[in-house]
Amino acid sequence: MSLRLGDVAPDFKAATTEGEFNFHEWLGNSWGMLFSHPADFTPVCTTELGMTAKLKDEFDKRNVKVLAVSIDPLDSHREWVKDINETQKTFVNFPIIADDDRNVATLYDMIHPNASEKATVRSVFVIGPDKKIKLTLTYPASTGRNFNELLRVIDSLQLTASYSVATPANWQDGEDCVIVPAVKDEDIPGKFPKGHTVIKPYLRMTPQPNK
Ligand code: BEZ
Repeated sequence: MSLRLGDVAPDFKAATTEGEFNFHEWLGNSWGMLFSHPADFTPVCTTELGMTAKLKDEFDKRNVKVLAVSIDPLDSHREWVKDINETQKTFVNFPIIADDDRNVATLYDMIHPNASEKATVRSVFVIGPDKKIKLTLTYPASTGRNFNELLRVIDSLQLTASYSVATPANWQDGEDCVIVPAVKDEDIPGKFPKGHTVIKPYLRMTPQPNK
């Protein structure tokens, strides 16, 4: 059965471009983003890994450790990283798992045989400091992911983990948030001292609490 939100992210031991480690141990108290790539030396993947490297400061700011996976071996990853650095004008600064035995791909259900027997799809798992899965996302091999959207979701996840708010459609960091239905009207002033607006009894907005 595939993994669902709230499940504990399966732990594993893996060989990576930055050495061998246990996933949970490596994560420590950080958030994590595990994301798969169909194969080394492919064009879309090359741009995705380059973009991830360029966004290192953004992931660091959010205390997110990034870990890529594809089912190619370590020597192939090492050669490919040279191409990524050259063509994307960056320096790959996160580990890439050599999952040639497909252990991680199987644990996380990243091979969808009706799409491809051999390659992983573009899966993303965002994992909280409690090691539970907070987001899953699956894209086909032909569509590169939007890394600004991944950062936006992480902002939302981290905000909603700390405050009784949710984020509305197209929300961006700094914009008003929705007060979750579980908060009683009478508790709003104490919980949201920046103020609030009642649009409908079930639709109550407040300025972003941590800004
Ligand atoms: C790519 O990364 O460019 C790619 C990989 C598999 C199928 C199509 C594109």
